[in-house]
Amino acid sequence: MVKLHVNGETRELPDLDPATPLLWVLRDHLGMTGTRFGCGKGLCGACTIHVDGTPTRACITPASVADGKKVTTIEGLEGRVADALRNAWSAGNVPQCGFCQGGQLMSAEHQLRSAPSASKEKRDGAMDGNICRCGTYTRIRKAMDQASADLGGE
Ligand code: FES
Ligand code: FES
Repeated sequence: MVKLHVNGETRELPDLDPATPLLWVLRDHLGMTGTRFGCGKGLCGACTIHVDGTPTRACITPASVADGKKVTTIEGLEGRVADALRNAWSAGNVPQCGFCQGGQLMSAEHQLRSAPSASKEKRDGAMDGNICRCGTYTRIRKAMDQASADLGGE
């Protein structure tokens, strides 16, 4: 039995093997497909979610790790920082195919929320683990600068 609190809703999964990666719990058991499968090895960031507010690679994290914890996915990402990022992403036409962008936003939100006054270099460095096969990195960095400025940061 695994119990998760996903985007504010308690979800009980009585028959779930606790070793099942969270990515498949979200996509296959809960029908939440915003979290993407990229590499399956913790290397690309496409599957990034938050577990108790911390960015987590859902493809390599067993459900047991999140038992009783708060799980946030791109579908449930909200708040002042998330709003600023979504506005900047939209204004800057950031996505190309869009596949990686949920994971990018999950990482960006954590970075701006947890270290609002970090330098631009630190901010950019925090995004290094999120790969974009379309190469939207320049637009992502610009949108993060914009969101940070809108939030009163650097
Ligand atoms: S799919 Fe999880 S890090 Fe690539
Ligand atoms: S926008 Fe296509 S993979 Fe990033």
